[in-house]
Amino acid sequence: MDSSAIFAVTAIASAIGGLALWAVQRSSKSKEPTFPSLPKWPLLGNILDYADASFTKRINSYPTPVWFSLPGFMGPILLVHDPDQARYVSSKAVSSRIVFGEPKLTTLFGGYESIFGATGKEHKRLRVLSMKAVSKNAMKQQFPLLQDLARETLENMARNPKAETQGISCLPHFQKLAFNAICIFMAGGDEAQLNQLVGLYDDFIDISHGFKAMFLPPFLEYFNGGLKAKAFEAQARILTKVSEITNERRCAMEDGNIYSDALSSLIEARDENGSSLSDRDIGFMFLVLCGAGFETTSMQLTTIFYFITNMVSNTDLEALQQEVDSFGELSESNLSQSPILNAFVKESLRIFNVAPFVIRIATEDFTLDGVNVPANSLFAAFHERGSLIEGGEAFELKRYLGDPSFDKDEFMPFGTGERRCLGFQLAMLEIKIVIAELLRGFVATKGVGKAKHVHVGTRLIESPVCIRPK
Ligand SMILES: *[C@@H]1O[C@H](CO)[C@@H](O)[C@H](O)[C@H]1NC(C)=O
Ligand SMILES: *[C@@H]1O[C@H](CO)[C@@H](O)[C@H](O)[C@H]1NC(C)=O
Repeated sequence: MDSSAIFAVTAIASAIGGLALWAVQRSSKSKEPTFPSLPKWPLLGNILDYADASFTKRINSYPTPVWFSLPGFMGPILLVHDPDQARYVSSKAVSSRIVFGEPKLTTLFGGYESIFGATGKEHKRLRVLSMKAVSKNAMKQQFPLLQDLARETLENMARNPKAETQGISCLPHFQKLAFNAICIFMAGGDEAQLNQLVGLYDDFIDISHGFKAMFLPPFLEYFNGGLKAKAFEAQARILTKVSEITNERRCAMEDGNIYSDALSSLIEARDENGSSLSDRDIGFMFLVLCGAGFETTSMQLTTIFYFITNMVSNTDLEALQQEVDSFGELSESNLSQSPILNAFVKESLRIFNVAPFVIRIATEDFTLDGVNVPANSLFAAFHERGSLIEGGEAFELKRYLGDPSFDKDEFMPFGTGERRCLGFQLAMLEIKIVIAELLRGFVATKGVGKAKHVHVGTRLIESPVCIRPK
């Protein structure tokens, strides 16, 4: 990531970090919250506070729900960290929009037009139309390609001369993997079309940088080389390309060719009135999948490699290795019926989640435990509970292997309800394939150098990893 992007991430994060430092506790009986006026841009204190690893622990010492003011954000925010409240506000009971769905900020991903920013009926319609495309079955069809991608990525990592003794950074490899996995999922049914999507990587990176720049004061655009303008040019190129591919595919389908990827499902999908998605809808669907599945998956995988090489006990690692060895030929059904691998991924997500809370905008008034939350309020459902459990900092598979003292449903790494992460099946599958392929063909150990903890924006723990073929 270049320095302007890092600055941008920091700015978003420090806005979020304002949660702690600018805590304005409001009476939980107050019927009509009045919103305090907010400083316009975040200050250094926010960044330092949020960057502190104990931040998530402290959140849980605040009352819930509680109003906070957030510098750099659009309004005050209702913080919720009780699991039942978090589930309630994330569920169908509250109509909401993801805060990054604020159209002003997400025009790059389609604003109100896309599933990110659409609300109510339109959101439901887009969700219904995309359901089949993101189903488990759709994922299964692309399994061999995803498996090749995982293997090639690991081979590439091992080819780096530093991978032998010093160790390498995993993040850039997993960024490429996450993007390519979305392309495979989208157009894996046709090799030429898949390659065209894969070729859009640099354009997508421009969009990713431009998105972060949306959170910065406009004058910085002059100093950062016009990140936003570049991003909109890249967006136009991607939409044009996806539209071309969609048209080509539609013709091929009309000629009787049969495909089994997300693109064909999106083209075929009809709502109750027989209407389908437009080319533009499909273009934005691709961008939304990339936007939601790029940093999250790559950072989570990088963190998991840190756990594997630094934190997981030999006993747990041996149990996992044994299960993976028992698979023989790898298949989607192996990975979905694998209690230990499943526990391993869930425990990784519990200990350190790239996104410990979901920030949303209420699209209608609601009341939560006596607190009135007017439409257009921001609220944050904080769902990382790991630090509250006794010994919660330790990586222990047994939590997800029948430990009765542990409530497995408290933690919602992909959210819940009508805004639940659309790509969670893909994310889980990608992560499982990479871990399985790692344990089958490679040895990963701790490299030389200190671990880097990033607690701002999407979070990450990374340390150099040595990796070599078995
Ligand atoms: C289908 O048409 C009916 C009647 O015009 C309308 O009320 C309904 O919202 C439409 N459904 C969708 C998903 O657009
Ligand atoms: C894994 O999947 C393959 C291919 O479907 C199958 O042959 C094998 O028996 C499965 N292994 C286990 C342990 O489920």
